[in-house]
This record gives sequence, structure tokens and C-alpha cells, in this order.
Amino acid sequence: MRLKNQTAWITGAGRGIGAETAKTFAREGATVVVSDMNQADVDIISREINEAGGTSMAVAVNVTDRHAIDAALKQIVETYERVDIVVNNAGITNDAQLLKMEEDQWDSVIDVNLKGIFNISQAAAKQMKEQEGGVILNASSVVGTYGNFGQTNYAAAKWGVNGMTKTWAKELGRFGIRVNAVAPGFVQTPMTEKMPQKVLDAMTDKSVLKDLATTEDIANAYLFLASKEARFITGEILAVDGGVVI
Ligand SMILES: NC(=O)c1ccc[n+]([C@@H]2O[C@H](COP(=O)([O-])OP(=O)(O)OC[C@H]3O[C@@H](n4cnc5c(N)ncnc54)[C@H](O)[C@@H]3O)[C@@H](O)[C@H]2O)c1
Repeated sequence: MRLKNQTAWITGAGRGIGAETAKTFAREGATVVVSDMNQADVDIISREINEAGGTSMAVAVNVTDRHAIDAALKQIVETYERVDIVVNNAGITNDAQLLKMEEDQWDSVIDVNLKGIFNISQAAAKQMKEQEGGVILNASSVVGTYGNFGQTNYAAAKWGVNGMTKTWAKELGRFGIRVNAVAPGFVQTPMTEKMPQKVLDAMTDKSVLKDLATTEDIANAYLFLASKEARFITGEILAVDGGVVI
């Protein structure tokens, strides 16, 4: 077991990549705090983990709500004493081309995908500094490396995530805290189900492996970066995209 005696807080874990990562981490021995803005979803995933023999707790948190984040962190530390790993996975899309994008479309994606990661990481990093170590993992995207038609807000957020990842790696390394990001290409999840088939086909075609990622592919990347095997890796943006960006 690669995450034995580790407590992992995973946001956006009610479905998709986050839910898969929560289950993967639990199978590897982590105590998992399953977090999402939707209480019903986290209850289901947490129950599935516990019924499969893992240990988890469901905590509903909206990553835009700093008071809720502080309360959740307090609950986690009171229950498990520490938070060793944070996976900042919660994210949304709200697409439009620049000429049509409404201000609230811009704000919503920046609030969740960029400021949400800042909110959770700032709270968690204080705790990690006190406990003298930890791992912060951020959800980036290939869109944060090469942009994407119709995704001004999402590209800006993911570019920002890459910048925060490298900055925090530099700031927090002396406290034993590693910070990395995972940049998937398109993954088969509820987020991409909304996309036109021709966009998904185009992305499949761009991949040199001629496939889309599965949620397991992304969860395994988070697992590696969270584990002791990645002890000397920090400030990295790990592409898991089948070679879309080479
Ligand atoms: N699916 C892809 O192709 C893909 C590609 C690259 C990056 N990503 C990134 O991976 C992450 C997960 O994507 P996914 O495809 O699993 O998405 P998804 O839509 O399937 O799941 C996202 C989860 O985040 C939760 N969430 C949304 N806003 C939240 C908030 N304010 N507070 C707390 N939880 C919130 C949702 O309730 C949902 O459970 C996102 O950051 C996304 O940008 C996804």
C-alpha cells in the first residue's frame, strides 16, 4: 500500500476524476476525506469506499467558500490530526468565445478553478507547515499549456494553476511540502459528456496514442505524485494526455 497512514483531502470528489482518485487512494491505504459541494454525492462515494474496506469521511465544501474551508479543515484535523495530501480537483467549465463571453462566465470559472485552489491550498499549507510536511496536487489541463477555442476563462485559470504550482513549490519546499499538478488531455467524465462528439474525436486524433484518457489514468498520476516514490518531485506539471502536447 503506497499511501498507508496518510490522510488525503480530495475536492470535487463526488464524481468523475475526483471520485476515482478518492477510491484509488483508499485502496492504497489512505484515509480519504471525500469533499464536494454536493452532500449527496460525497455521501455516496464515501459509503462506497467504506463498504469496500477503506476509511473515509464525507465533507461537503464549496471551494469558493473560505469559511466552509476553514470549518472543514478544523473537522479533518480534529478527526485525523493531520492532512498529508490535498488534491485540488474541483473544477467547472463555462465556455464561450471571447466575443460572446459574459462577465459571470469568466468569474465563475476563475472563482472555482483558480481561486478555489488558492483558498484550499492556503488553508492546508498552514496546517502542513505546522505538521512539517505534506503534498499539494492541483488539477491543471492541456488547455493550460496550449489554450483552447471557446475557453478563455478555463485557459486563464489552468495557466494560473500552473503558475501557482511552481510558485508554491518554491515557497513551501523548505517546510517539507511538495506541490505538483496533473494536466490531463480530454478524459471521459461528466465534464466532457457535454462536449460535441466532433471535439472529442478531434482530441482523440491529436493524441499520438489515438485515445482519450480514463479517470483511472488520471487517478494513477495523482497516486504517483502523492506517494513516497515522488519524494524528490516538486513544481512539476505532469501531462497525462496521450501525447497531445509534446
Ligand atoms: N474531464 C476532462 O477532460 C478534464 C481534462 C483536463 C482537466 N480536467 C480537470 O479535472 C478536474 C475534474 O474534472 P472532471 O472531468 O472529473 O469534472 P466533473 O464535472 O466530472 O467533476 C467535477 C466535480 O467538481 C465539483 N465541483 C464543481 N464546483 C465545485 C465547487 N465550487 N466546490 C466544490 N466542488 C465543486 C462538482 O460537483 C463535480 O463533482 C477539473 O479541475 C477539470 O478542470 C478535466
